[in-house]
Amino acid sequence: MATQPPDKILIVEDEPDIALALKIALESVGYEPFWAGDGEKALQILLDDNDCHLALLDIRMPGIDGVEVLKRLRSSNRDVAVIMMSGHGSEELAVECIKIGAEDYLSKPFVLDDMLQRVERARSHRLAVIEKKRLEQEREDFFMMLSHDMKNPMTAVIGSIDIMREGRLGPVNEEQVDYLQSAIDSCNEVILMIDNLLDIRRFEVGKMQLSIQPYQPVDIIRKVVAQFSRAAERDGIRLSLEFKDGIPDIAVDRNALTRIMGNLLGNALKFTPEGGEINVSCNRIEPSDAHLTRVPSYVSLPDGFLERQCFVMLTVRDNGNGIPSDELKCIFDRYMQSSSNGGRERGGAGLGLSFCQLAVESFGGAIWAESEAGQGSEFIILLPCVT
Ligand SMILES: Nc1ncnc2c1ncn2[C@@H]1O[C@H](COP(=O)(O)OP(=O)(O)OP(=O)(O)O)[C@@H](O)[C@H]1O
Ligand SMILES: [Mg+2]
Repeated sequence: MATQPPDKILIVEDEPDIALALKIALESVGYEPFWAGDGEKALQILLDDNDCHLALLDIRMPGIDGVEVLKRLRSSNRDVAVIMMSGHGSEELAVECIKIGAEDYLSKPFVLDDMLQRVERARSHRLAVIEKKRLEQEREDFFMMLSHDMKNPMTAVIGSIDIMREGRLGPVNEEQVDYLQSAIDSCNEVILMIDNLLDIRRFEVGKMQLSIQPYQPVDIIRKVVAQFSRAAERDGIRLSLEFKDGIPDIAVDRNALTRIMGNLLGNALKFTPEGGEINVSCNRIEPSDAHLTRVPSYVSLPDGFLERQCFVMLTVRDNGNGIPSDELKCIFDRYMQSSSNGGRERGGAGLGLSFCQLAVESFGGAIWAESEAGQGSEFIILLPCVT
C-alpha cells in the first residue's frame, strides 16, 4: 500500500458525506487525502500542487464539472492520474472520460475495498509512467552528452594533431606523420560511431533532418573513395572505382550518402587483409536488368519500386573475410556483428550498417549484402533515378 511519505490524493466531491467516507478509508491505509468541494478549487490545487499526483474526481458538480476539470488538466502539462466518480446515469460519460485521459472510474455507490484497489492500481500505473519518463529523459541526456561533451572535444583533438602532422609546430619525419595520421583516423572512427548512433536515434524519433535533392552520384562517390585512398594504401589494399558515363542523378541527402559510402568503405577496409582488393562501382540499371532479381526477399522495397523506369546501383565489393550467408540479413540490425570475423575485437559498435539501411530507406532505396564466408563481400544499394 502507500509508501512513506504518504501519497497525497485530492478528493473532488461536492457532497461532504461522500468526501468524508473516502477520506477515512484512504487515511486508514496510509494515504494523505484532502478535499476540494468544487471544480474551480480542484483545478487551482491540481495545477499548483506538484506533490499531488492522484485525484478522485466527481463527474457531476455545480460550476465546472468533472469532465471539464479533466479536460483542462490534460491540456496543461501537469501529470496527475485521475479516477472519475460517476453517479447513476453518468456511466457513459465516465467511459468517455477514459478516452480523454482518465485512468479509471468508480460508480456510486461504491464499495470502499474496490475503491482502494483501483486507487492502488492507478498509483502503481502512474509510478510506472514516471519511471518510463525518467528513463527516456536519461536516454535523451545521454545522447546530448554524446554529441556535445564527447564529439566536440574529439574534433578539437583532431585539429591539434593535424597541426602537428602538417609540421606547423616543428619538423616531423615520415614515420611520425604516419603515427599522427593513425591517431586522426582513430578519432574520426569514434566521431563516425557517435554520428551513427545519434542519427539512428534521430531516424527512430522522426527527427532526422535531410535535404534530399538531385545529385550526380559519381561526384559524391569519387570524393569518398579519394578520402579512403591513403588508408587503403597504408594497409596494402588496392582500392578502385568503376563507372560508365551517363549515370543519371539520384535524389539523396549529400551528407548522408557520403556517410553511407564511408561506412561501407570503412567496413571493407576493416575486414580485408593486406594485399586484398576493394572495388566501388556505380551503374545505371534498367527495369529489365537481371540485377533487380538479386534483391533478397527479406528486403522491404517501397511501394511501386520495381515499376520505376531506371535505377542507380552502387556497390562496394571486397575480397576479404566475407560473411556467413545466414548472417547477411541480421548484420543490418543495431549492434549486430558477425560471429565469424571478430567485429567486436576490431573496435566497432555494430551501428554503421543500421545507419546505412535507415538512410537508404529514407531515399526510397534498398540495401543488402551478398557474400560467402572466406569469399569476400559485396554491399549493394539500389536507388531510383531522378527522371
Ligand atoms: N565488408 C565486410 N566484410 C566482412 N564483414 C562485414 C563487412 N561489412 C560488415 N561486416 C560485418 O557486419 C558487422 C556490422 O557492420 P557495421 O558496420 O554495422 O558495424 P561495425 O563495423 O562492427 O561497427 P561500426 O560501424 O559501428 O563502427 C560487422 O561487425 C562485420 O561483422
Ligand atoms: Mg562499420
